[in-house]
Amino acid sequence: MKPFQAGECTGLLAGSLNNVFSNREPWQVAAMTATTVLGTVWLWGFINQDENVFVRGKRQFFRFAKRFPAVRRKIDAEISKARADFEDEIRKSCDGLNWSVELPENGLGREEILQLVDKHLTIGHYDWREGRVSGAVYGYKQELVELITEVYGKTSYTNPLHPDIFPGVCKMEAEVVRMACTLFQGDANSCGTMTTGGTESILMACKAYRDYALETRNVQRPNMIVPRTVHAAFDKAAQYFKIHIKYVEVNPKTLK
Ligand SMILES: Cc1ncc(COP(=O)(O)O)c(C=O)c1O
Repeated sequence: MKPFQAGECTGLLAGSLNNVFSNREPWQVAAMTATTVLGTVWLWGFINQDENVFVRGKRQFFRFAKRFPAVRRKIDAEISKARADFEDEIRKSCDGLNWSVELPENGLGREEILQLVDKHLTIGHYDWREGRVSGAVYGYKQELVELITEVYGKTSYTNPLHPDIFPGVCKMEAEVVRMACTLFQGDANSCGTMTTGGTESILMACKAYRDYALETRNVQRPNMIVPRTVHAAFDKAAQYFKIHIKYVEVNPKTLK
């Protein structure tokens, strides 16, 4: 048996298509062709989106379900309860303190400001200076606080965006970055930048990985798989940088 040649296949296909359209008017052939092309383009666009059809379908279903008064009432009740619980807790914790809701007519003096800050810092029932509030405060040393306060006082007006004006700040930043690179076994090509804190560091890491995957493997729809307990900064990164986020439940006992 002799294998099909490319030309023969095309001939067969053309023959069958001609048969299908043999009794059609030219305008019908044009209309069917246009409908098929437009339908295929639409279907491709519908399937080929950042989120898969199942996730979008689920969202659409809930959007639709929320239109039913009974469902709407249930959702509103849950939201109101969560809001009331949160407000209650804060109100109880701040009992005895005045709430300022607009700028004061006359500015406060230095002593008044310091007293106000002290007053606000004494409320709350966690003994966070003694530890045991992992994820919030990682350690407390009065001596260190005094040093940080002094350093911050000396540098608060500097602007690292202008190394020509503050070359010493630029040097210190470079040193911190290099120390971090060395900690992570980075070679001479490793680099980094100073960020404003944990959230921005996580955002920058997610963005760097997203860009790297696009550049090296043409990953157009990046994903990240995270534990359910991950810091909220990852959700922010997912939304800011269009990265899909998938959660893995943790063991409720070990939290691993
Ligand atoms: C593990 C972890 N990641 C990120 C952050 C966010 O840091 P920041 O509040 O400096 O943005 C925190 C803050 O407590 C954290 O504990």
